[in-house]
Amino acid sequence: MTDRLVDKPLLRVLAGGCEAIPPIWLMRQAGRYLPEYRALRAKAAGFLDLCFDTKQAAEITLQPIRRFGFDAAILFSDILVVPHALGQRVTFREGEGPQLDAIVDSSALKRLREEVDHVRLEPVYEAIAAVKRQLPVGVALLGFCGAPWTVATYMIAGAGTMDQLPARLFAYQHCEAFAKLIDILVEASTGYLIRQFAAGVDAVQIFDTWAGVLPGDEFRRWCIEPCSRIVAGVRKAVPGSRIIGFPRGAATELESYLDAVAVDAIGLDWTVELGFARDRVQTRRPVQGNLDPLALLAGGAALDRSIDAILDALSGGPFIFNLGHGVLPETPIAHVERLVARVRGATDG
Ligand code: CP3
Repeated sequence: MTDRLVDKPLLRVLAGGCEAIPPIWLMRQAGRYLPEYRALRAKAAGFLDLCFDTKQAAEITLQPIRRFGFDAAILFSDILVVPHALGQRVTFREGEGPQLDAIVDSSALKRLREEVDHVRLEPVYEAIAAVKRQLPVGVALLGFCGAPWTVATYMIAGAGTMDQLPARLFAYQHCEAFAKLIDILVEASTGYLIRQFAAGVDAVQIFDTWAGVLPGDEFRRWCIEPCSRIVAGVRKAVPGSRIIGFPRGAATELESYLDAVAVDAIGLDWTVELGFARDRVQTRRPVQGNLDPLALLAGGAALDRSIDAILDALSGGPFIFNLGHGVLPETPIAHVERLVARVRGATDG
């Protein structure tokens, strides 16, 4: 662990350190805004075929590192490989997002496996090992999983939804069945992350993209509790493992998340006010974020201003520069280059 800490700025920050130039990586840094990704995607039968092709997944993971020299690579995969490994049918149609066989009632739940089929996920673990062999010195490798609530929203709706209504309704109407699904996902995600560590990731991020739609009690029950069980389970199996939490939209509930979930650092979405981030969050845990992906798409003075405001507020403490959510497919490459240069101090004014 000590060696890794010495030569990887991102891991130094996760350990509570403060870097003069904050490490930077971007959520969805491997993806459709990159022509080299689109070229591989066009040749693939489907998105999941890319995720389960060890060589291609490793190659796509490395594409943004080669182009921009980020401080971390995030494994190219998807949060929905977990439902797939639980036996749910998952497909991605271009431009339409994911399609799953919706879980409409508690009997549909019984068709799921109770445990993840790790054989199906083997190519993912092999991709981690392949990336490790090719990663430049100083660059950390991140694994990830979706948080149980967020993954459940897709499993129940059978697709992405604007308001996660099907899962919210299901949780109220079939509370026991929903709790059972969350339990299955806690176990599945814990095992999945433990195996990612065994394959060689330096740290992992738990994406709770839809945490923000839950009212207080439900937030505790479906976001905080499951995530804290995953963190405890992973830590038990992998002592000292580094974990970043990303409860998107949690707003002031970020404080209760930090009270209960023992993550090493917390990802902030772009709506988190910078004074609150500095005074109430960064005083407790290293923070990561939180540039508005639309500012990156827009570029120009709006981008520069947004970057500077974040650096002014957060770079005095333990801080990892990132977006507040994923890179949008329409984002110009030149804007990402400008961002990296500005964060690293190569551009002034
Ligand atoms: O960040 C990275 O570069 C690593 C790879 C990664 C992907 N998805 C690749 C991807 C990661 C970490 C994810 C996480 C993910 N997947 C989340 C949580 C974070 C977030 O963005 O909210 C969620 C909710 C998903 C589920 C998912 N995957 C959706 C809803 C979609 C369709 C919408 C979209 O953006 O296309 C995907 C597809 C997906 N995942 C793509 C990529 C590169 C695009 C697929 C394609 O090329 O057709």
